[in-house]
Amino acid sequence: MKKLISIGLACSTLTSAAFAQNFEVEPIVGFPDFGFMVPPGTGDGEYTGPVFVLRDDYPKTMPPLDSGVQEILKMDFAGDSINYATAVRDYIFEGNIRGGSVEADFDLFKNSVGRDWYHAPWQHWGPNGREGYHGLTREGPLSPYVLDKTQKDKSSAYAVGFYNGPGGLTFGKVWPSADQGPDLSTLIAGEGFPEGTIVGKFLFTVLDETQVSYLSNPLQWNAYMYDCDVPSSAGYGGDCTADKRSTQKVNLLQMDIMIKDNRAVDAAGWVFGTFSYNGNLPADHQYSAACEQYSGDAKKWCNLVPVGVMWGNDPDNDIGHLNLTPSVDNPTVINKTLKQTVINPSPDLPAQHLGWASRLDGPADNPGSSCMSCHSTGQYPAVSPIMLTFNPAEMPHDGATASPEWMRYFRNFKDGEAFDEGRAVSTDFSMQLLKSIQNYVEWRSQSQQGGYAVEYWTDNNVGPVTRGAHLE
Ligand code: HEC
Repeated sequence: MKKLISIGLACSTLTSAAFAQNFEVEPIVGFPDFGFMVPPGTGDGEYTGPVFVLRDDYPKTMPPLDSGVQEILKMDFAGDSINYATAVRDYIFEGNIRGGSVEADFDLFKNSVGRDWYHAPWQHWGPNGREGYHGLTREGPLSPYVLDKTQKDKSSAYAVGFYNGPGGLTFGKVWPSADQGPDLSTLIAGEGFPEGTIVGKFLFTVLDETQVSYLSNPLQWNAYMYDCDVPSSAGYGGDCTADKRSTQKVNLLQMDIMIKDNRAVDAAGWVFGTFSYNGNLPADHQYSAACEQYSGDAKKWCNLVPVGVMWGNDPDNDIGHLNLTPSVDNPTVINKTLKQTVINPSPDLPAQHLGWASRLDGPADNPGSSCMSCHSTGQYPAVSPIMLTFNPAEMPHDGATASPEWMRYFRNFKDGEAFDEGRAVSTDFSMQLLKSIQNYVEWRSQSQQGGYAVEYWTDNNVGPVTRGAHLE
């Protein structure tokens, strides 16, 4: 964590509360926490609320699996998918929701049941890097109508993710020190995340219930976000790289989970799940048990309704289906021919577009992809794009048979196998691990005239082909 902007701000005007917060928590200078924070003297007085601190004291040895993880690894993700997903959601909630203001939740330094959770380093960098309230990065676009038929404005999701102890172990191996570049040897050896790794991620949007019906009664965080993404702002739709940001209330939209479970043999040992917010449910709905202990806004975390679970990409299922405009009149289509995706049939789930041919995907995700399709491209260097095309017109629509090129994005993988095996090393489905390496190399390359730009990996194991430097 430490260095950065907050130090610059602190010289004269940042309040001692915010200043002390960053330095009390972790005295050692580590990876930078964030790239963007509200400047002093804006708004009504100085900001004195929580400031994002990156948790990066990754474990050096494999932490023992706590009882929560052990219980999850015994559950049947294929046969009891919705209960499995809910159990993982509640595991991620435990100790991270503290029952007061939701602005203070998910401060990983304060987990009240003593569980260690970590952030990915190097997500602060670049124009979409972390902001300083909650470490939110700017994510992919939310195109009109992708969330609901009344969503007329485009925007972008803002998101933050967390890894539990076993996941932190891998980050510590790849990033042994904040003062040096990544060590890829563990990935080159085909070693990814250990069994018992659990990852959670929340996605927020500034769009509200006037455009997205299920975002009523919202759970809100502050976000220091680009005006180009805020429909009510004068800068809306403008040039985001112009760097105009402001503090906005954003609404919880989606939660993603990843679980490394060796029983998921077709998907390199990963199970993926996702949740959609639904603010229209009664207080005591079927997914609310984990939040009964809280009062006030904290109860709303449980309005995250399971969408489904996937543990493979159904590589043989090549008949197209696309739903680009989900709504009550155009409800979720459950594809019963899929063998490795289960979708929640409950009417408590708002209408979903899902992924290609109804594979698992979240509200904010591209309907021509799937969780595992996109994450399977997690490799360094990223020689293949995350999707074959972003143009819906070029995607296999209803009943069309997909091409082999398209189905390349719906393959299954062995543990450690890269999307372009031989030309890249797998980051084991972790996009944040990939981004950390990419961002570092890009930063270094920019400051050293291309010295660290990596083009592709050779298949003779001598290392990456670079313009002048090896990563070792
Ligand atoms: C079209 C691409 C794409 C799709 C589809 C997608 N993701 Fe991601 N995901 C990303 C990228 C890029 C990141 C890294 C940036 C970030 O932190 O959000 C990411 C990050 C994550 C993280 C944080 C952990 C990590 O390091 O990867 C989780 C958890 C996650 N996604 C789960 C999911 C789930 C579950 C789904 C399906 C519901 C999904 N993703 C669909 C691209 C995608």
